[in-house]
Amino acid sequence: MKQGEIVLGALAPHPPHLVYAENPPQNEPKAECGWEVLRWGYERLRKSLAQRKVDVLIVHSPHWRTMTGTHFLGVEHFKGLSVDPVFPNLFRFHYDLKVDVELSRQIFTEAQGLGLEVQMMTNPDFRIDYGTIISCHLSRPEWDIPIVAISSHGLARYFNMEVMQAVMLKLGQATKVAVEKSGKRAALLASNSLSHRHFVVEPEVPEDMSFEHIQNHSQYLWDMKVLDLMKRGQTQELLEIMPDFTEQAVAETDGGSLTWLLSALDFPTYPAEVHAYGSVIGTGNAIVEWNPHNRQVEWNPHNRQVEWRAQGGAQ
Ligand SMILES: [Fe+2]
Repeated sequence: MKQGEIVLGALAPHPPHLVYAENPPQNEPKAECGWEVLRWGYERLRKSLAQRKVDVLIVHSPHWRTMTGTHFLGVEHFKGLSVDPVFPNLFRFHYDLKVDVELSRQIFTEAQGLGLEVQMMTNPDFRIDYGTIISCHLSRPEWDIPIVAISSHGLARYFNMEVMQAVMLKLGQATKVAVEKSGKRAALLASNSLSHRHFVVEPEVPEDMSFEHIQNHSQYLWDMKVLDLMKRGQTQELLEIMPDFTEQAVAETDGGSLTWLLSALDFPTYPAEVHAYGSVIGTGNAIVEWNPHNRQVEWNPHNRQVEWRAQGGAQ
């Protein structure tokens, strides 16, 4: 069997506003427009995903929060209604999704072998969290690729960021090894925003963009620092500042999704491509792609633009 590989990694945040603004048939509330820059960024990510011929999407979500260890969806089909508890006026989404249970079990087994606390979630009536649904929907609205969904747990809160990151480093490696053994082509989605301070009052028309801007300048500076490190391929440095970033920008990286992704990608030293950055009710959100086939690409410091060179073979 051919060795599997991670063919794409992405930071794929889950503001329900983006689904609301797109008006897919699955979502009950309807919008006029809104948050176009971020939605156009997702359109670029979708094109990349379509070119890679992906067999499975693997998503790690801050909103499937498990109290003990990491859980994996272990039922082949889920159908139901997902309602955002904070924005029920924006997100009432009828989902119907397929799970790659075989790969879920493979990651479970690899993680268990590394000493992690893991469980398979086998309740067929389980309600899928909106972080998982939104990242998957915005990355692949056709819902024609099975998913593997991975929970986050509260280690950053119960202990500290360092403990959480140590576990996510192992989980990322377990994910990578399981993908390689599976023979499949996988895309990984880290479903989290960056800075996460937000406004507590919503405008009368939620998609009125005259109200939309970053919540404060200091968190904007943090977001730009993080994105600059991604573009430069300095993800080891990003790992090191992640605790400070998470604390000072109240970032959604406390769930571990981004650390898991970077670990699974072996901490890329090649440049990430930032498809979009924008705010949603004041939070900082970026759609960022890593293409492991660009391992030889280097950051060009002279014009501050990423120099992309075709690497040949499947992209
Ligand atoms: Fe969230």
